[in-house]
Order: sequence, then structure tokens, then C-alpha cells
Amino acid sequence: MVPVITIDGPSGVGKGSIAQMLARQLGWHLLDSGALYRLTALSALRQGLDLADADAVATAARDLPVTFTAGEPGEPVAVLLSGEDVTREIRTEACGKAASTVAVYPLVRQALLQRQRDFQRLPGLVADGRDMGTVIFPEALCKVYMTASAEVRAQRRYDQLKRQGESVKISHLLKEIQDRDARDMGRVEAPLRPAEDAVIIDTSSLTLDEVLAAVLKVWSEKQA
Ligand code: DC
Repeated sequence: MVPVITIDGPSGVGKGSIAQMLARQLGWHLLDSGALYRLTALSALRQGLDLADADAVATAARDLPVTFTAGEPGEPVAVLLSGEDVTREIRTEACGKAASTVAVYPLVRQALLQRQRDFQRLPGLVADGRDMGTVIFPEALCKVYMTASAEVRAQRRYDQLKRQGESVKISHLLKEIQDRDARDMGRVEAPLRPAEDAVIIDTSSLTLDEVLAAVLKVWSEKQA
């Protein structure tokens, strides 16, 4: 049995950072499932496909020519699409938005299902996404659902972009986050919601280190 810790929650809640820190600390593999949806959208756009064409996008998902370069456990890996390094490109707001659009299609989700399960390898897996605990790894022993208000998430994103020298309006970021939440939570297939057996952690007033400690506490309690 390969242990799995699932970390689900809305955009901008800090799941990616926590999943990475956790995988590093435990020496486990890491699945960034959002990257697969981002790559699907990017691959479809590069092929000139219409993102509204679910069948065509699902084919792009099935045939995704992606390589994750092997890094140390929990280290960020480079992502190659047809051999080209797209690590940065898939992180843009535009790609995130396109990912959320194609993630609505059941055929796309099916096409990516086994690819995600294949990440479950010894000594263990930290899986970050929206439906890790509900659909992809329903048997996982430890499920965490991270939350924070849309306002808090918009502020964090604003601070992050500002540090990177980008100037954006916070009202714009808030609107984007609210739209993304509505799409991710409102879709019919695998909507964003906590698994029944998930532990909910409200991160609004917590630092990353405090969230990490809270997740590690959940994990040690589950093992007891
Ligand atoms: O976590 P992220 O921002 O990289 O994800 C981008 C989009 O992909 C997100 O808005 C919804 C979709 N997604 C999903 O539907 N299911 C997942 N397990 C992960 C991401």
C-alpha cells in the first residue's frame, strides 16, 4: 500500500506550496494535478484547437506529450511539452483560466485520470488539486481541504505579483478568483468540494509554516 496525502482546495489558497513542502519533508513524490489541466489547455491552444471543442481537447489530454524532469522529492520539476520547457508558461493567469475552462469537460477529466493515479509510487505521494480526495484517490488515508476567503487569496496573489514587479488591480484579481471558484465548484463532473472524510484547514490567518504543521499533525493522527 502506497500512502497518499491529498491536498484539495480553491485557487490561490497555497496548496501548491504546502504540497511541495510536505513532499520534501516526507521524501515523497508530488502530483501537481493542476499542471496537467494547464498543460492540456496549452497543448490544445498550440495545436490551434477550439477550447470549446470538448472532444478535441480530450484527445489533446490523452496524447499529452509531457515530461516532468525527475527532481529530488518535493522539488519543483521542470515541465516539458513536446520537449520544450513550459514550466513558466503554464503558470500564467491566462493558462490557469484556460485550464479551468477545459477542466469542466468530463472527457478531459477521464483522459487524465489514470495518468494521475500512476503518480502513486513508494514511498508515498502528496497529491495537490481539486478532486484528489473525492475522485482520484478516494482511498487516501489522509485528506486535507485548505480554505481561505476569496479576499484573502486575492490579497496574497496581489502581494506575490507586486514582489515580482507586476502591477495589477486587486479588484481584478478578486473577480478572477471568484469566477474561477464558481467554475471549479459549479461544474457537474468532480466539482471542487471537501471529501466527507477530509480535515478542513482555514488558512486565512495562518503562515505557510503553521499550515504545514497543521497538516503534519493531521497525518500523524491518521497513522495512530
Ligand atoms: O491548481 P491550479 O490553479 O494549477 O489548477 C488550474 C485549473 O485546473 C483549476 O482552475 C481547475 C483545474 N483543476 C481541476 O479541475 N482539477 C484538479 N485536480 C486540478 C486542477
